[in-house]
This record gives sequence, C-alpha cells and structure tokens, in this order.
Amino acid sequence: MKDYRILFVDDDKDILMMVEQYLQMQKYNISTVNSGLKALDMVKDQQIDIIFTDYKMPEFNGLELLAAVKQYKPEIEVIIVTGYGSMESAVQAMKFGSYDYLQKPFKLDHLKLIIDRIIEEKKVQDKEALIRKRSRERYKYHGLIGISAKMQQIYDLIETVSRQDPMVLIQGESGTGKELVARTIHQVSESHSKPFVAVNCGSITESVPEEEVVDHVSGLLRKVNNGTLYFDEIAELSSNVRLVLLEALKKEKDNIREGVRVIAATSKELGEVISSGVLKKDLFDMLNAVFITLPPLRERCEDICLLMYHFIHMICTKQKKRIIGVSPEAFDILMKYHWPGNLIQLQNVIERALALSVEDMIQPDDLPAEIQTFSQISRMA
Ligand SMILES: Nc1ncnc2c1ncn2[C@@H]1O[C@H](COP(=O)(O)OP(=O)(O)OP(=O)(O)O)[C@@H](O)[C@H]1O
Ligand SMILES: [Mg+2]
Repeated sequence: MKDYRILFVDDDKDILMMVEQYLQMQKYNISTVNSGLKALDMVKDQQIDIIFTDYKMPEFNGLELLAAVKQYKPEIEVIIVTGYGSMESAVQAMKFGSYDYLQKPFKLDHLKLIIDRIIEEKKVQDKEALIRKRSRERYKYHGLIGISAKMQQIYDLIETVSRQDPMVLIQGESGTGKELVARTIHQVSESHSKPFVAVNCGSITESVPEEEVVDHVSGLLRKVNNGTLYFDEIAELSSNVRLVLLEALKKEKDNIREGVRVIAATSKELGEVISSGVLKKDLFDMLNAVFITLPPLRERCEDICLLMYHFIHMICTKQKKRIIGVSPEAFDILMKYHWPGNLIQLQNVIERALALSVEDMIQPDDLPAEIQTFSQISRMA
C-alpha cells in the first residue's frame, strides 16, 4: 500500500517541530513548511495527500492556501488549524472544502485520529480506482478475447453468475462465442473440476424416441454429475423433452443450487423465443434465469484486430508453423468487413489465408473474393 504524504503548514516553528517529531515517531511520511506560499509550491510539483494548515499566517493565509489547493489538486484533503477557538473561520473553511478543522491548542492524538481516518478513506478510494482501471483494461478473460466495452460487461456478468450459480440463457448470433462463454462460466465456477456436458437440442429432438426421453434426461444428469449442462439451441427442444427435463430438474430442485448448473443458448432473438412459448413459464421461469446477450462482431470492431492475431497465433501454433503477420492492405480489408458469420467466420477466413499464404504476410489475395469486393463496395459507397 502506498505511503500517504502529510504536509503541516504553520509559521510557528515550535509547532512544526513538535508535529514532525511526533508523526515521524509514529512512522508517518510527514513534511513541514513555515509559509503558505512555500506549501503551494510543494503542492504543484510534489505528491502530497493531506495538508494541515494554520489559519493565521502572514502573506498567504490558510484559507487562501485551501482555495488554491482545491483548484489545483482537489483530491488533496486539507484541514484548517484555527487559533483562539475561532469558530467563524472554521465554518468558513468548511465552506471552502476543508475536510475538517482542528482547534489550537490540539492534542497530538487528535491529529493522528484525523490522519488515520483520511488514510482509511483514501485507501478505499484508491482500491476502487484500481479495480475500475483493471476492469477497463481487460483485453482477455480466460479464453475470451476482446477489449470492447460490450465484452467488458460480459466478463463482469460471467464473474457474477459463476459465483451465484443461477441458470443462464445466452443469446447471440451464430458464431458469436456462446459455447465459449458457457465453458468460461463453468471454468470460473467452483465446480470447474466436474464435467461440462454440451447437448445439441436439435439432435435430441430428432434422435431420441419418445419412450426413451425420460431415461435420456436422467442419463444426462448422471453424466454431468453436478457439473455444467449446456443446452445448445434450446429453442429446438421439443415440448416433450422440455417437460421431462423440467420434471427431472424440479425433482432435483433442492440439489440444484449446489448441484448441476444449467446453461442454455439460442441464436434466435430472445423476444421471439419467449413469445413462441418455448421458454414461457417453465424451465427458465422456475430457475430464474440470467440473460447474457453476446454482441455480433460488427458491433465490436475494436475486437477484430485482437481476434485476428489471436487466431493466427492459435492456428500457427497448432499446425507447428511459423507465425506470420497481416499486410496493411489485407488488414484494412479485414477491418472493414461486416462479419455476418462472426468469430467462426473470422477464424475460418484466417485459417484459409494461412493455408494459401506464400509470403511472410497474409495478402489481400489470400482472402475470399466476397470479402475483398465488400471492402471495394464500401469504399465506393
Ligand atoms: N471472445 C472470444 N475470444 C476468442 N475466441 C473466441 C471468442 N468467442 C468465440 N471464440 C471462438 O470462436 C469460435 C466460435 O465460438 P462458439 O462456438 O463458442 O460460438 P457459438 O455462438 O456457440 O456458435 P454457434 O452458434 O455456431 O454454435 C470458437 O472457435 C471459439 O473458440
Ligand atoms: Mg455453439
């Protein structure tokens, strides 16, 4: 934790000496100065966190110093030290933004009390600022890449839901990363060492005969063994399977909170899915689902560049190939494209370009024709 620096300003040298000795003994970072103008000079070019200043001083008094400090560095806390029990000047100082006031003669432990209170408050503020800064700067969260504000919100949501254990419904166009988000929630949660079982709802509906649905669902619950059950394309689930699943989960309801985590995904619009009745009044209502909406890639262009290099790195490493770059012309084309197929499409385009590339860099010719022409059309428009 940072060492907070205190400045004591008074034209009385005896007071300065007494304060300095006392605070140094208590291991505080204390400096003293005998005029308001000198204090102001220090404030301008040094790091100071707390100032105690005498009210009555020749030239530049405490109130003037307070006003000047608040103008330059409002984060510095200033405490006015008033003589002769003058309440009036203390009240005036508070109006000018003084943190508190101290009446002369003061007890040294009263001084220490005020300092400790300010330091505690500053520590909390600094910690909050650090957390805000960190969460602003995240360009990666576990396997997820992205620096856009939308992805930052997703990271925060994943952290919250993985701690709380509610049911989650992820909505996003095809290829936006729904399964990877589900896997990340599982990975961050306490049950990360348990299985993650992905189920394709369309294929259950097609391939499991009615009379086997009950067994199938209980088989799934056994297999997942208090890990995470991921239902991909939940809107494809037949009403038959849904009812059985609902019953099975209801039976386990008491265990569910600490038991199996259910995450479902859909590429349909949420409103459409809910109004069609698929999610109404059953599974999701009962379990109080949290919704996560994944933005399409075209709504987070600032992530395209990061993802491009992420995929290049990933594919080259996997294929034990030398890692290559992207030429400025190809880069421009990739950045301008609208990516209807989202991350899957970007990944495929990069994989294809890496296979075609004969140079040290991916060139426009290594990209699919429709992507090249898209950038020409958008340039003409
Ligand atoms: N934020 C991300 N950072 C890095 N890679 C990502 C990210 N999101 C997705 N991917 C990768 O992009 C590909 C598509 O992601 P995923 O399969 O999770 O999407 P999906 O929404 O489930 O797609 P579909 O609708 O086709 O099932 C995967 O290879 C995944 O690893
Ligand atoms: Mg998927």
